[in-house]
Amino acid sequence: MGQYFDNQDLPSKMVKKECFLRGTKFIFYTDNGVFSKDGLDFGSRLLLETIPLEEVGGKVLDMGCGYGVLGIVLNKVLSCSVDMVDVNLRAIHLASINIKENHCQNICAYESNVYSNINSKYTCIITNPPIRAGKKVVYDIVMNAKKYLEKDGVLFLVIRKEQGAKSLIVDLEKQYTVEVLERKKGFYILKCK
Ligand SMILES: C[S@@+](CC[C@H](N)C(=O)[O-])C[C@H]1O[C@@H](n2cnc3c(N)ncnc32)[C@H](O)[C@@H]1O
Repeated sequence: MGQYFDNQDLPSKMVKKECFLRGTKFIFYTDNGVFSKDGLDFGSRLLLETIPLEEVGGKVLDMGCGYGVLGIVLNKVLSCSVDMVDVNLRAIHLASINIKENHCQNICAYESNVYSNINSKYTCIITNPPIRAGKKVVYDIVMNAKKYLEKDGVLFLVIRKEQGAKSLIVDLEKQYTVEVLERKKGFYILKCK
């Protein structure tokens, strides 16, 4: 299976990071060849700190989970059921380690190229989409999310202004009601229903 970017030849060098999110301490192992290996991405933190937790519950899909930060934090803070998927096998391996490291339950991480291995519906899909994978993948993730959402389900995402936030919002509005929940340092947090 292809990778977000090719990490086959990159030697593994796992590093342990700690961070506080939503009042809880987390441990995340990161590695070469995964997104934001030096620590939590600003956009991912803003997304987690912005979304209204009372609207998340139920069953959550973390699409493009990387080493698992979005899904693991929601699982831990809300005790909700979480599926985490990514195309990057090293990311899946790290997410599985991080599930154990943070003593999470009712959560799993597995390979999926966008929705190729998704067979459920969710109350919430959360994503920091892979801009480097290209517009087609990003649009596949966000535009097709509604097929995998329960009625009244919600998609939360982060996108940067310089990565085309404004035109993405225009396109999202063709099939969702879109709310800009936060705008900070060029990052937009969007809620799509
Ligand atoms: C911007 S990173 C976000 C990672 C993580 N959710 C976070 O917030 O730190 C996007 C992730 O999408 C994954 N990805 C890229 N192409 C994908 C695809 N076709 N299907 C699923 N995930 C993909 C990448 O491997 C990467 O881990």
